[in-house]
Amino acid sequence: MAKPKIHYQCQACGATHPRWQGQCEGCGAWNTLTEELPTVALSPAGKTPQKSGLVLEPLQRQEAPSAQRMSTDIGELDRVLGGGLMVGSVILIGGEPGIGKSTLLLQAMINLSRHHDVAYFTGEESLDQIAQRAVRLHAPHDQVMAAHTVHLEDILTLLDKPTAPKIVVIDSIQTLHAGAIESAPGTVSQVRYSTHMLANLAKKRGITFFIVGHITKEGTLAGPKVLEHLVDTVLTFEGDRRHHVRLLRASKNRYGATDEIGVFTMTSSGLSEVTNPSSLFLSTDQPPCPGHVVTAIMEGARPLLVDIEVLVCPTPLAIPRRTVVGWDVNRLHMLVAVLEKRLKCPLSSKDIFMNVAGGLKIQEPAADFAVCVALLSSLRDTLVPKGTVVFGEVSLSGTLRSVPHAYTRMREATRLGFTRILAPKQDIENLEGATYVPCEHLGDVLGSTDT
Ligand code: TYD
Ligand code: MG
Repeated sequence: MAKPKIHYQCQACGATHPRWQGQCEGCGAWNTLTEELPTVALSPAGKTPQKSGLVLEPLQRQEAPSAQRMSTDIGELDRVLGGGLMVGSVILIGGEPGIGKSTLLLQAMINLSRHHDVAYFTGEESLDQIAQRAVRLHAPHDQVMAAHTVHLEDILTLLDKPTAPKIVVIDSIQTLHAGAIESAPGTVSQVRYSTHMLANLAKKRGITFFIVGHITKEGTLAGPKVLEHLVDTVLTFEGDRRHHVRLLRASKNRYGATDEIGVFTMTSSGLSEVTNPSSLFLSTDQPPCPGHVVTAIMEGARPLLVDIEVLVCPTPLAIPRRTVVGWDVNRLHMLVAVLEKRLKCPLSSKDIFMNVAGGLKIQEPAADFAVCVALLSSLRDTLVPKGTVVFGEVSLSGTLRSVPHAYTRMREATRLGFTRILAPKQDIENLEGATYVPCEHLGDVLGSTDT
């Protein structure tokens, strides 16, 4: 019998190479190639099945999807799932270790176990550890059935029965080992094969799977681009482990929108839902301070008001420091250059420290304007008037560009009692309860914020 041919597969993007090399040609990542053996053929090669049994059905016979949703009793999770858990769907939930994936799923399973049979398979922790976590959640958990295993075949056999639980957690896909694949657990072929088999079973038996997947330090689900097309929904659980805020996002959802986010805080008794997220990122009890500005950002479809703090101070160093937490340092460099060139602000001889409150990472340029106002406020040691919200994108010429969802941002600001809104001129829509300052160029800020 011919020896099976070994190939090398990139653990980041799944590209295969005939021989080992340091850098993947597919994605450019270094040291990600591992040896993979070919999959054992599942059916005898070359044979075509005698009878396929395939029939065509009219589409209208399928049940309406809305009838097949289950509530997890966690409103923020249901919202991100598109209005509840779809029966027979496969949901991949990714996140860094320690962020709270197991906690979130255990809470969901405890809630679901009141009305459904649920099973929790863990390959990472002992059953005792899971039970200890359940005790911390202060909820009756004796209806949640659990097993510790790393063998995929054991799970498939147990679940492939009509009486088996219909809601299942696999924690995590990287610890599962499929006997049909010779490579180690966690490799691309293992996670892909295991997910494929679980997804098949989900469709066959109507089982809903939550599959936990770890995120690599580059921020991708390990092995994962390769998993995304196998599952119905991909959720990511994010947050800074030093802060208690956690965001749940859907990056793919066959049964709902992908711009929803769920907001939680990690407490001593599990994850708690946050229905008014802006309250988390605003320090209402602090005395006003130069360099402190509130901006309105969008997280998915939700507006959030966030505190931005900037400290500008003289530097003893030849090359001044630019330290940023929660934003893109290159964007800060760009705005500093715009302020230097267009407004003649002497920032090149100053250290700049910037922080976004609450451990949030702002991704969008709509915070540009607020950062510029904060820089000027700190540089000149003057306060931004209380109750002010600033947003807008800044171009290299210093003019303000319109941002998406401006109305939603302004409505959130007025709802939370802010009375003065600085925004790009074209975005201003007058809502009741606030004064609007339409801005065309950064130069307008000099007159309008007393900075
Ligand atoms: P965990 O769900 O184990 O994270 P993951 O599965 O993503 O690796 O949660 C880990 C962290 O959450 C851990 O550091 C302890 C903390 N935690 C709390 O703060 N409160 C709690 O009630 C629980 C259960 C965990
Ligand atoms: Mg875990």
